[in-house]
Amino acid sequence: MSGGVAVARAGVQAGGALGATRLDLAGKHIVLGLSGGVACYKAADFTRELVKAGATVQVVMTQAAEQFITPVTMQALSNRAVFTSQWDAREPNNMAHINLTRDADAIVIAPASADLLAKLVQGRADDLLSLMCLARPIDRCPLLVAPAMNREMWAHPATQRNLAQLRADGSTVLGPGSGDQACGETGDGRMLEPAELLADLVAFFQPKHLLGKVVLITAGPTFEPIDPVRGITNRSSGKMGFAIARAAAEAGASVTLVAGPVAQATPRGVRRIDVGTAQQMFDAVMAAALAQDLFIATAAVADWRPAAFTGQKIKKTAERAVPQLALTENPDILASVARLPNGPYCVGFAAESHDLLQHARAKRERKNVPLIVANLGPETFGQDDNALTLVDAHGERALARADKLTLARQLVAEIAARLAVVAP
Ligand code: CTP
Repeated sequence: MSGGVAVARAGVQAGGALGATRLDLAGKHIVLGLSGGVACYKAADFTRELVKAGATVQVVMTQAAEQFITPVTMQALSNRAVFTSQWDAREPNNMAHINLTRDADAIVIAPASADLLAKLVQGRADDLLSLMCLARPIDRCPLLVAPAMNREMWAHPATQRNLAQLRADGSTVLGPGSGDQACGETGDGRMLEPAELLADLVAFFQPKHLLGKVVLITAGPTFEPIDPVRGITNRSSGKMGFAIARAAAEAGASVTLVAGPVAQATPRGVRRIDVGTAQQMFDAVMAAALAQDLFIATAAVADWRPAAFTGQKIKKTAERAVPQLALTENPDILASVARLPNGPYCVGFAAESHDLLQHARAKRERKNVPLIVANLGPETFGQDDNALTLVDAHGERALARADKLTLARQLVAEIAARLAVVAP
């Protein structure tokens, strides 16, 4: 990233959230079950998130859920009549418990109370929601539950036993979160927030190209201090690297993200290590590198740092000449990982301003990595979309301009295919 170094005051660069509203659930039909719990208030917002993401939503509520939120609210938000009873005569065959799941892509129960979990485990079917879950086609209608309960109820051996059995039966447990509870206590058992539930559901539907793989990613710029308030950095926002971290986690990998100073939210399920300088990034990466299957270097690492750090702010005085900045070279993180015997499969990025392919091919050879992802720096830094060209030993492949998360998912699939050849 030597090309576009800029001198900036210390602090984070604004990066913004990844993309606007995305239609990640377009074409999906979700049956949203609500059981009794104060977290029902979050189900209203979750319904909006699902609809905004392109899903159609069919709400099914227990009688207990109706104590916390009305079917009127849920109907208005989902734009569909809500089902609350197995005796609902609106269905021509009077079998709502069968009909509701036959075209569903998933049942999500949010909130899932301790009582409902117990019923699911035992296969009880004395209300519409539990009856419908028992009657669903288990091979093609997955069940996801978002538990919501007091921390003591959550920690109780009966609940933990039920969760283990639910997982063994093939269901997916979303969360729970931890923190302040409606009862005034603090601990595990809060239902996830609507945005977290949405992210987990979107991830659930992504293909598991990297299942079981351990992946390390660098992202963002580095910041090389000159004095306590100034430093050398660059215009990388970290968006592409964070999108790749999210896509890799969605694909089933265990992901560690080493991030320079950026204002990006950590993708769900990703372990994040924040660093400032290139040397700190190098240290964090080298400490973890040998445990990885895959290393993806997206960071715009400063090639140089000030040779000396000035402990006090350099003052501008009438007598003093303009300071001369001596630079020294930073370690090349990608090349160092690529040199490790038995190291991970390495993917580098090339951010260029001109002669993209020529520079990318040369960089691949020089850093001795199997795959380089080339992009034009000025057209990607800070943007929400990008275009990529993959350069490997067999030639080039272009990924057309798209938002960064879409590209990241395509890139993860491309990398996984190459990884499967070298490390099946
Ligand atoms: N990279 C790295 N450590 C460095 C410099 C770069 O790990 N000290 C990685 C980047 O994360 C990227 C790849 O190497 O994956 C290429 O980075 P780039 O800045 O484009 O290449 P440079 O080697 O710095 O070459 P130049 O700036 O001259 O184009």
